[in-house]
Amino acid sequence: MNSLTLKGGRPLKGQVKISGSKNATLPIMAASLMSSGEVILSGVPELEDINVMSDALRILGAKVKREADILIIDSANVSAVEIPEHISRKMRASNLVMGALLGRFKHARVAYPGGCAIGIRPMDLHLKGFRNLGYELIEEYGFMEGNGHSTIGKEILLDFPSVGATENIIMAAALTPGVTIIRNAAREPEIVDMQNFLNRMGAKIRGAGLDTICIEGVDRLGGVEHGVIPDRIEAGTFMVAAAISRGDIYIENIVLEHILPLIAKLKEMGLEILLCSSGIRVVGNNNNYRPADIKTMPYPGFPTDMQAQMMALLSTVRGTSIVVETIFENRFMHVQELRRMGADIKTEGKIAIIKGKNSLEGTNVEATDLRAGAALILAALFADGETRIAKIEHINRGYEKIHQKLLGLGADIIS
Ligand code: UD1
Repeated sequence: MNSLTLKGGRPLKGQVKISGSKNATLPIMAASLMSSGEVILSGVPELEDINVMSDALRILGAKVKREADILIIDSANVSAVEIPEHISRKMRASNLVMGALLGRFKHARVAYPGGCAIGIRPMDLHLKGFRNLGYELIEEYGFMEGNGHSTIGKEILLDFPSVGATENIIMAAALTPGVTIIRNAAREPEIVDMQNFLNRMGAKIRGAGLDTICIEGVDRLGGVEHGVIPDRIEAGTFMVAAAISRGDIYIENIVLEHILPLIAKLKEMGLEILLCSSGIRVVGNNNNYRPADIKTMPYPGFPTDMQAQMMALLSTVRGTSIVVETIFENRFMHVQELRRMGADIKTEGKIAIIKGKNSLEGTNVEATDLRAGAALILAALFADGETRIAKIEHINRGYEKIHQKLLGLGADIIS
């Protein structure tokens, strides 16, 4: 089993470069299936989730080649339309190929992804969207199967602004005749990146980043070169690393607008944040932070993907903080591990009450999912003594070269 052992108490100092966004790359890779030309993506992070999506595309007949941070995808000869269970189970985001395949082939069969550590994560909004577009959907034998006949664009109102459902519907609609309007769409920056990518391939999509997206179907999509946006959650995690280690980190390759909810919260807590021309400098101070209340919300609200990391920080800030998780029903898995390190956190349903302290103690803990794992690394940077984090493969799914980046900032990594 992979583990990471860290000794806390050393302020992180220096410069770190943020990698390309995992959550932007995955839907864009799926959307590459819709192109009859060659797709060249740059800024692609080297992560296990990207490898799983590459495998999914290869299973369908695409050629996928990596050269450093460049991914070259050729979907000209794609003819298969089925994603088997062993791929779907590895990564929920593999369901994003469904919209792309429906758009291009009007037929797709994808093994149901099932639940995961942070919640049940149903697919009902995706499927409802496809049905509204005119596709026939069957759910049987653990597969979701869609077929389209004389599909024509429609108006779709999402019950909740789901990121994946918005992306899947955009893809299916981009090659569906007529005009499709998605209302109450998710507004995340990764959706804007996907829109820009698709439009460069010849799609006609407007409104990503707002709650109404308009897609005018086209007949075909061609090749494109596209640079993926920086990972706002990785940037946020390093901002919290500066804060919790009481360090001073210059973070480069960011889009300021994407991290405003984090900047606002950290400033409210008393962090010094300096905006520079090509990055951001986060200066921690000794023990003068103020507690804060956080409620996770769809973008531009506070991101659920930063909730665990912020909880680690709040555990080290004297006073009472309250965290409300509104997006996922089971996203407090890190709480019991933080408690093992001495954190005083109580949970009741969606609410966590954190009584911050001056100290945490290093011990053996386990990463239960990607962001919970990141929270444990952050807590370990602050804790007295050594913390051994087991199952770091969860962390490697979403943080490129995290080990090297932490070492570069002076973290005391034992093994
Ligand atoms: C994406 C991100 C993930 C992030 C999440 C919320 C990727 C690859 N992953 O996940 O990192 O935490 O957005 O910002 O981009 N839901 C339904 N029915 C559906 C779809 C979703 O009930 O059909 C629920 C989910 O169970 C969850 C909530 O809606 O409670 C939000 O999910 P969604 O926005 O779809 O997240 P993902 O796209 O899966």
